[in-house]
Amino acid sequence: MSLVIAIDGPAASGKGTLARKLAEHYGLPHLDTGLLYRATACALLDEGLPLDDVEAAVEAARGLSLTDFDEARLRAREMGEAASVVAAMPPVRAALIDMQRAFAARPEGAVLDGRDIGTVICPEARVKIFVTATPETRAQRRALELASRGEAVDYAAILDDVRKRDARDSERSAAPLKAADDAIKLDTSELDREEVLAAALAIVERAR
Ligand code: C5P
Repeated sequence: MSLVIAIDGPAASGKGTLARKLAEHYGLPHLDTGLLYRATACALLDEGLPLDDVEAAVEAARGLSLTDFDEARLRAREMGEAASVVAAMPPVRAALIDMQRAFAARPEGAVLDGRDIGTVICPEARVKIFVTATPETRAQRRALELASRGEAVDYAAILDDVRKRDARDSERSAAPLKAADDAIKLDTSELDREEVLAAALAIVERAR
């Protein structure tokens, strides 16, 4: 039977790293759904269009191809901010649903990570994990990651960014960031990456 694993959580919670490792462990394809919103925002910025141009955003979302993302560019800090603006528009979310569900419907299963995988995209997923960590921990991790890439680090600005994105993602009316009722919460504030993976593997094995 196919194994669909839904990983949701706030910005910089470690859900992306965890999703990648779980996919590797179970030999499943992985979709980082944040990239879809980032790529949509990026297309608008490239055309010099405002981020609240709904029609252009929907067109950009419909035209996305999962295979040609410029990840280095899409993962830049400003792109996360821009993504959360386009992601608040319901028609943009609607335009991206089929693509995500088709990915999850692969015969072997899939790992998807985002904000609404367990609640909207794959409510029937066999395993749902909601990854959390305090804003300070998440800002610290993001700072380390940027420093390791040789980028300038301003911890206060990063923490502010994390808090703003939390507020925008949790308070929007369209598919807000929230744990599904049947999701297992995994607080990673006090855990290193190996411990997070071990805890998640235990959750998946119990649900399988
Ligand atoms: O996860 P990531 O930081 O790449 O996501 C960027 C933004 O895209 C988030 O802040 C959120 O607004 C949006 N997003 C979303 N639903 C998802 C994935 C991402 O609304 N499933």
